[in-house]
Amino acid sequence: LSEEKVIIHFINQDGIRTTTAVTEGQTLLDVVVNKNLDISGFGACEGTLACSTCHLIFDKTFYEKMEPTVDEEMDMLDLAYGLTKTSRLGCQVTVQKWMDGMTVQVPQEVRDAVGSKGNQ
Ligand code: FES
Repeated sequence: LSEEKVIIHFINQDGIRTTTAVTEGQTLLDVVVNKNLDISGFGACEGTLACSTCHLIFDKTFYEKMEPTVDEEMDMLDLAYGLTKTSRLGCQVTVQKWMDGMTVQVPQEVRDAVGSKGNQ
């Protein structure tokens, strides 16, 4: 009997997608570390809820099925760049079977924050 794998797709800060096959029970931070995904600066505090670099954006359908965010996570998320309504900290989300096929997205880096200058 081989262990069942859960497929999780990651989209990194450059918009590049990586598909991983992982066992349940590890956090999304564990996955990024174990699979050596190319996400710059991810998980700076190693999952101790002291940063917000593990910020990930989820599909609404998956987000709504997750355990509610605890206060400590909410506090750190508030500091996260590019916060959305379906944001979580990756180190606080444990992979479960029902997440099979889920896509999580790293907030895109804004390279041209002043790019709108001159438009109208
Ligand atoms: Fe720092 Fe998740 S790795 S809060």
